[in-house]
Amino acid sequence: MNSALFQFYRALLLCHCVVQISYTQITYLSNPRFQIEYVWSYLNFTWISPQQYLTALKNGEYIPENNVPTGLKIYNGNLYLSMPKFRNGVPVTLAYIPMGISRKKNELLIPFPSWELNDVGSCSNLQSVQSMEIDTNGIMWVLDGVRLSNNVNCPTKLVFLDLNNNGFVVYSYTFPNEISPQNGGFLNDIVIDDSDGGYAYITDNSNVDPGLIIYSRKKNRAWKIRDRSMFPEPWAANFYVDNVRIENLAPIDGIALSPKPTKGGNRTVFYTALTGFDLFAISTTVLKDEKLCRTDRWRTSVKFVGEKVSQTDGMIMDSRGALYYTLLPLYGVAKWNIWQPLSSSEIVDADKTDMVWPDGFAMDQRGYLYLISNYVFNYINPNTSLRLSPDIKFRVFKLYTGTRSYLYNK
Ligand SMILES: *[C@@H]1O[C@H](CO)[C@@H](O)[C@H](O)[C@H]1NC(C)=O
Ligand SMILES: *[C@@H]1O[C@H](CO)[C@@H](O)[C@H](O)[C@H]1NC(C)=O
Ligand SMILES: *[C@@H]1O[C@H](CO)[C@@H](O)[C@H](O)[C@H]1NC(C)=O
Repeated sequence: MNSALFQFYRALLLCHCVVQISYTQITYLSNPRFQIEYVWSYLNFTWISPQQYLTALKNGEYIPENNVPTGLKIYNGNLYLSMPKFRNGVPVTLAYIPMGISRKKNELLIPFPSWELNDVGSCSNLQSVQSMEIDTNGIMWVLDGVRLSNNVNCPTKLVFLDLNNNGFVVYSYTFPNEISPQNGGFLNDIVIDDSDGGYAYITDNSNVDPGLIIYSRKKNRAWKIRDRSMFPEPWAANFYVDNVRIENLAPIDGIALSPKPTKGGNRTVFYTALTGFDLFAISTTVLKDEKLCRTDRWRTSVKFVGEKVSQTDGMIMDSRGALYYTLLPLYGVAKWNIWQPLSSSEIVDADKTDMVWPDGFAMDQRGYLYLISNYVFNYINPNTSLRLSPDIKFRVFKLYTGTRSYLYNK
């Protein structure tokens, strides 16, 4: 831990060293920092009518203070957000805002693809979504897999929405219960690999059966691997965020995929337990091999990459092999070039006031990286009482990196 702390302070010094140019009296940071783009003190929606809104308020289908955004992705000028149902009163689990809006505070979310598709009355509709990814053809792969509470009683699934066709449901794959349980399941994050007919690699953060799920679009099958490297590290528990002690042991959560290779070939998946410091990697050559995954032999392919300075939630890789990962108790984001040792990571930004639980990332096509911070620990812990207040709870930040996501090779 001492050397890890040292690395942290060293990285902090490297990143936030200030270049003073005395004759202009302007202070430049050596690295640009994240800028706040949108903020919310609570989430509200574009209701169909005042009646629909008032009824939802009255019967508890909408409890404003219980709604929290976790996943974010960007496509064609829209910012998509997912709202998992950790609590009652979350009427919509997938929505968007047009990014051109001038109102940057408490913007109303537009249910996506529609109010109907967000109606929990039918298991074929979206139930409780934690995150999603958008492939290069504009198909959104929606991970409908948060089954922690009794609010939702449907199998977990992966839903494919065509963003170039108003979110038309192209296909829906239901996970077998033995891969992702309908009671207590928690599909957390997803990356897409467009090779060999398309693959998704998904983290299962549930305490019932944590693991890494592989889904092949071509075979239309899913399989799962479970390993010690995906379990929480007890010594990483009990850290503090915003004066709250984070006690629960959370397994595999953050996931990233190395950038699309220029000449084809297989890639590397990186993952880490939320309650953990260790970063691990495994080749997609192994993951794609269903037969191998059903043996025990794949285990020798798990590589220990190194120890991070902090517990991490979301991660994303860019097209040049820079991994951005959140630093929960340090209120920040680190960057690591995967061709260098992990210890060469630098802190891109840290802000104790604004970056309270930096959670998920997204990248657009214009060279910007986006990040959401959301106090999600308060929403997941049922013992925390929530109330409406003007305090800002959710922030979307952006940072110019000049790169695109791992889905591209430049
Ligand atoms: C929520 O949004 C609706 C418009 O869709 C508006 O009429 C209502 O006043 C809003 N409620 C709150 C609490 O902001
Ligand atoms: C990628 O992995 C799959 C599954 O093991 C294998 O069939 C394929 O040959 C690999 N491709 C390359 C270029 O290594
Ligand atoms: C909530 O409170 C109950 C009763 O005190 C306790 O058993 C439980 O562990 C608490 N849950 C969390 C997540 O802190």
